Amino acid sequence: MTDTHPIASYIEDHRERWLEELFEFLRIPSISTDPARAGDVRSAAEWLLGRLEEAGCTESAIWETAGHPVVYGAWRGAGDSAPTVLIYGHYDVQPEDPVELWSSPPFEPEVRNGKLFARGSADDKGQLYVHAKALEAWMQTEGSCPVNVVFLMEGEEEVGSPNVAASVKEHLDELRCDAVVVSDTTMFAPGLPTLCNGLRGLAYLQVDVQGPNRDLHSGMFGGAVVNPAETLAQMLAACRDDNGRITVPGFYDDVVEVPQTERDDWKALPFDGDAYRESLDVEALLPTGASTLESLWAQPTLDVNGLLSGFTGEGSKTVLPATAMAKVSMRLVANQDPEKIADAFEAYMHELAPPGVKVTVKRMHGGKPWSASREHPVLQAAARAMERGFGAQTVFIREGGSIPLVATLEELFGVPTVMMGFGLPDENAHAPDENLDLGNFYDGVASAAYFFEELAGSDS
Ligand code: BES
Ligand code: ZN
Repeated sequence: MTDTHPIASYIEDHRERWLEELFEFLRIPSISTDPARAGDVRSAAEWLLGRLEEAGCTESAIWETAGHPVVYGAWRGAGDSAPTVLIYGHYDVQPEDPVELWSSPPFEPEVRNGKLFARGSADDKGQLYVHAKALEAWMQTEGSCPVNVVFLMEGEEEVGSPNVAASVKEHLDELRCDAVVVSDTTMFAPGLPTLCNGLRGLAYLQVDVQGPNRDLHSGMFGGAVVNPAETLAQMLAACRDDNGRITVPGFYDDVVEVPQTERDDWKALPFDGDAYRESLDVEALLPTGASTLESLWAQPTLDVNGLLSGFTGEGSKTVLPATAMAKVSMRLVANQDPEKIADAFEAYMHELAPPGVKVTVKRMHGGKPWSASREHPVLQAAARAMERGFGAQTVFIREGGSIPLVATLEELFGVPTVMMGFGLPDENAHAPDENLDLGNFYDGVASAAYFFEELAGSDS
């Protein structure tokens, strides 16, 4: 931290207490996908609500949804002439499994070498907490904040945000804002303050192939009866050609090219393609013809996430399976529409299915891609704030992951979104040993606090 602002010394003085608070938050196993943890998800919501109130929110509520609750908080003391910032994050986490691969238990936070290890430390409890502390820092040092601050924290992001949009639509008045801020992405590299100006969207589907009415002896029936496992493998393999392009008809129709200037800037980022490949222990990457960063950030793709059919246990069993199932995700870029892509994929699966099997396609969830102009004054204000917080020049990146509500909020409020990432790519989000660099957490609090000031001072 390089700034001599009172905020900077306030942060220095409160490191220990904030860490203890984070420990409490991270001890709550708020795994949204597991019905058995619904009580824990609610406990995390209630814990967060209390901390938002302590930070200075004078309005606060738990909004019930058809699923997990939404946490709302607001401080509006800056008045009508000041901008209002809506901070969106998620307090739910991914499951901890495989738990045996963690170096310390996932819900018993531990600091090692300046990194906080626990499920949810980076994604997203630690990152969202940055903003609560930024409000606290303003309230405790100046008795007020340069902008009005509204918090919208959901408990279902990791399962595709099925209910939060309905909740947002019920509370448009409370949530109306001039800018949205999200911290649920990564910094490009240690020490490099990073703003993300593009996220991929998602269409996630399940494909079921039904062959004969029961499993069959592969000697008695094989060669005569269409095999669902083989059929599904062929259908999925047909989705990508030898150049790595997706063959689903119309897949690329709505893709908007990323501006050349932006792609040129990506070339200046400290990225070593060979080191990336070697870190994965693979000899080659998909032959897309584009750079790795472009393939991840600017190109849509299709991935088989899971495959299930037939006998997969120890030993062998001669069987012609009756069914086969695959989970498929398609990551989308602007301006692809998840519904339209899901329609195209579904139609393609039916087209590829040979006579002798029945194919069913089920839609799991989806989200629109999102992108923003790096030149927008609100993003520029954020870039200046991060520069102050981290003491280095801010870079712009896109990310391959998805945060479905981001495009929805932009549609509903028509305001710019700032994605300030404080995680790092090697912090094991969704994996064992998830962690968050504490230096980035504290510099993140400074950046978030300075953003309020930069935004109030800019004429955007
Ligand atoms: N924090 C991630 C989004 C993300 C991933 C940002 C990678 C930057 C890089 C978020 O919590 C997440 O995992 N989202 C899911 C969304 C899905 C469940 C709808 C994802 O991307 O798989
Ligand atoms: Zn997340």
